[in-house]
Amino acid sequence: MKNRPGLFVTGTDTGVGKTLVSAALLHALAALGERVAGMKPVAAGADLVDGAWVNEDVLALREASPVPAPPDLVNPYLFREAIAPHIAAERKGVRIELLRIVAAYEALAGEGVPVLVEGAGGFLVPLGPEKDMADLATALGLPILLVVGMRLGCLNHALLTAEAIERRGLQLAGWVANRIDPEMAVYDENLASLAGRLRAPLIAELPWMPRPDARQASRYFPPQGLNRWWSALLGVQSAD
Ligand SMILES: Nc1ncnc2c1ncn2[C@@H]1O[C@H](COP(=O)(O)OP(=O)(O)O)[C@@H](O)[C@H]1O
Ligand SMILES: [Mg+2]
Repeated sequence: MKNRPGLFVTGTDTGVGKTLVSAALLHALAALGERVAGMKPVAAGADLVDGAWVNEDVLALREASPVPAPPDLVNPYLFREAIAPHIAAERKGVRIELLRIVAAYEALAGEGVPVLVEGAGGFLVPLGPEKDMADLATALGLPILLVVGMRLGCLNHALLTAEAIERRGLQLAGWVANRIDPEMAVYDENLASLAGRLRAPLIAELPWMPRPDARQASRYFPPQGLNRWWSALLGVQSAD
């Protein structure tokens, strides 16, 4: 397994804020002067905009990326239906090739640019009969950021995901607590329960936002901590 500069963003489920967190992180890194590109290798669900099929995750990551990148490298596989990717692929007679995604990653990262890769769904979402999102993370050899959608049930989902990551010999590099349920009871106790059990740093805590916006959400990544964490991840000495 090759260690590449970059990050693989997974989540406790679909709809837990992976895209919002990924786009916010891209903005926060851009504000630190970092060069980084966003990638959404497999996307399901597209709308026809001015004659072209557009996926909103791909759009959000491209808009937030400080380093511009061609759409076909950012998103090698796009399916129109918002359904499980392996079923969408099967219906179209398409085989999702991990090597094609790795090649797109390499092309994006070509000039030493770290790439932030957003997975689809949760960590074990299938990509075909014998492969899943975890195989993609393994093929890319990236450290992983876990977005925890803070709601009832998230402790189990977060700990199962962390265990799956560790079992594959991958690095859980950090996690983000994203408050998707403003009504969640005993939020602080849940946060502390996770902090005591996940063997990785809490990178940011995002509140519930009535009008979620990636640029606004980027303010919740404390710059100094982010700088130190990102530098360590890329294996370079932090300046501060
Ligand atoms: N902290 C938050 N506060 C309010 N809404 C949020 C928050 N995080 C995510 N959302 C909303 O929840 C939905 C799912 O978020 P998204 O980032 O698309 O999740 P995922 O990429 O994991 O599927 C989106 O409509 C998003 O705007
Ligand atoms: Mg998403």
